[in-house]
Amino acid sequence: MNDLILPLPDDFHVHLRQDEALAGYVSDYAEQFGRGLVMPNTIPPITTPELLLDYKQKILASASRFEPLMTFKLHAAYSRDTLEKMKASGAAAGKYYPAGVTTNSQDGISELESVFPVLEMMEDLGFVLSIHGEEPSAFCLDRESAFIWRVERIAERFPKLKVVFEHLSTAAAVDFVLNAPENVAATITVHHLMLTLDDVIGDGLQPHHFCKPLPKFPADREAVRAAAFSGRSKIFFGSDSAPHPREKKECAPGAAGVYTAPVAIPLLAEIFENAGKLSLLPDFIGGFGADFYGLPRTSESITLVREPWVVPDSYHGAVPLAAGKTLQWKLK
Ligand code: NCD
Ligand code: ZN
Repeated sequence: MNDLILPLPDDFHVHLRQDEALAGYVSDYAEQFGRGLVMPNTIPPITTPELLLDYKQKILASASRFEPLMTFKLHAAYSRDTLEKMKASGAAAGKYYPAGVTTNSQDGISELESVFPVLEMMEDLGFVLSIHGEEPSAFCLDRESAFIWRVERIAERFPKLKVVFEHLSTAAAVDFVLNAPENVAATITVHHLMLTLDDVIGDGLQPHHFCKPLPKFPADREAVRAAAFSGRSKIFFGSDSAPHPREKKECAPGAAGVYTAPVAIPLLAEIFENAGKLSLLPDFIGGFGADFYGLPRTSESITLVREPWVVPDSYHGAVPLAAGKTLQWKLK
């Protein structure tokens, strides 16, 4: 088999950045994806319907056949009126960032209960809650597992709220999501299917593999892979593609985030094929996520060809995952 036809991919977690950086990243992105859930951790953050609409229009101005699914940054002070306007402006989800846990999250949430009134309105209005599930005060490798109880509390308290535990990186979080009620789903990135902590700090320091949540132990990666290969409808793709200019990564302190958008789909094809799970890839990238978000499944497709190619060292000034490596599948 030398042609692989897949649904035009959806990505339920992406950073497209802003200002001069936006157009380049959006054009890389729209070559691979039909829809993407665009994260709100810009400066200023997306916290009003006006900012959301303005951001959406700027994205659309840089891409022809791409549909941005917009998000707002969760905080405790939203009124129902604002949330209704967010909905009317095309917001699909609100994003929960614990304070200080990752890039541009200093204004995140400290007190879980403080957002309960807003979560109740979001449940009522049919928003998805997207969660960066890490406890900032915990030891870096324990941050995800230390956060699980909070997701559990939210899902119990708001049983009709659709909750996404983003970018699973531990066996503990995988286990929690697979056994949680059906209102709890999760995204998995391509880099958490590939990397362990060894790939970040095991040899020479690899700043382009540094991201939140950190890639962890081999057993955690195995659990994340098993979840991606489970065929469960609550597990779907969210790239967390997070480009930073090379000079913001190769410095101290270096920014967290892996730039995966230009290589994600070819890498996923290789990973699923090598695991003998290629038949599960269409739902993972173009089915389950749309179902969970209540969107129609795409009717378009893309074709990958089996043709080795070398990943460029940089795209628009950002170093991609697998830079300089030879990949087996290429986008036609
Ligand atoms: C993301 C970024 O750079 O915006 N970084 C990352 O390491 N994943 C933010 C995030 O999703 O945590
Ligand atoms: Zn992210």
